[in-house]
Amino acid sequence: TALTLLMITAAYLAGSISSAVLICKIFALPDPRTQGSGNPGTTNVYRIGGRFPALLTLLCDVLKGTIPVWGSYFLGIEPLYLGFIAIAACLGHIYPLFFGFNGGKAVATALGTMLPIGLDLSGLLIATWIATVFITGYSSLAALVTVGLAPVFTWFIKPQYSIPVTMLSILIIARHRSNIIRLFKGEEGRIWDKGKTLE
Ligand code: G3P
Repeated sequence: TALTLLMITAAYLAGSISSAVLICKIFALPDPRTQGSGNPGTTNVYRIGGRFPALLTLLCDVLKGTIPVWGSYFLGIEPLYLGFIAIAACLGHIYPLFFGFNGGKAVATALGTMLPIGLDLSGLLIATWIATVFITGYSSLAALVTVGLAPVFTWFIKPQYSIPVTMLSILIIARHRSNIIRLFKGEEGRIWDKGKTLE
C-alpha cells in the first residue's frame, strides 16, 4: 500500500542520517570516515572520541531503526512489510543519501529495528554482543557472532520474523568483509586499542 511505501522511504531517509559523522562534528572530532577503521559507527567513534560521543552515536543509530519500525507497527503494517522497513533503515545507514552513500555497518540500526520484536530477543542479542566483546575484545567479531545467532534466536522466539532477520544478518555480514579479512589475518584492532589506525 501507499502507507507501506511511505514508511519504507521514511525509514531509508532516517537511516541516511549518519549519527557518527554528525556527532563527531558536534564534538569537534575528526570525521570517523577518515580515522581509525574509517567506519562511521559507535565502535569507531569510541576509538576517536571516547565513551560519551560513542554512547550518543549508539543511541541515535538504534533509534533510527526503532522509530520507523515501531511507528509502522502502530500504523497497522503487516509483519512482512515491517521487515522491509527494517531493511530500508539499515540500507539508509549503509548507503546514506545525505552522506555520499558512504555509511556504516548497520549493527546498531539493525538492533534498533529488532527491539520492537521483543525484549527477550533483543536482550539475548545484546547479551551475545557484550559477552563476545568481553571475551575477545573485537567489536566486529561480536557483531558477526550476534547476527549469526540472530536468525536462530528469532526462529525459537518469534518465527514469523525469521526471514527479515536473516536478511538483515546477511546484509551486516557482507558489510563486515574488511573486518573478516582483518580477523583472519590477525590484524583486527581490539576495542581497547583506542585511536589505532587500522587501514
Ligand atoms: O559496529 C561496527 C563494528 O562491528 C565494526 O566496526 O569500526 O571496528 O570496523 P569497526
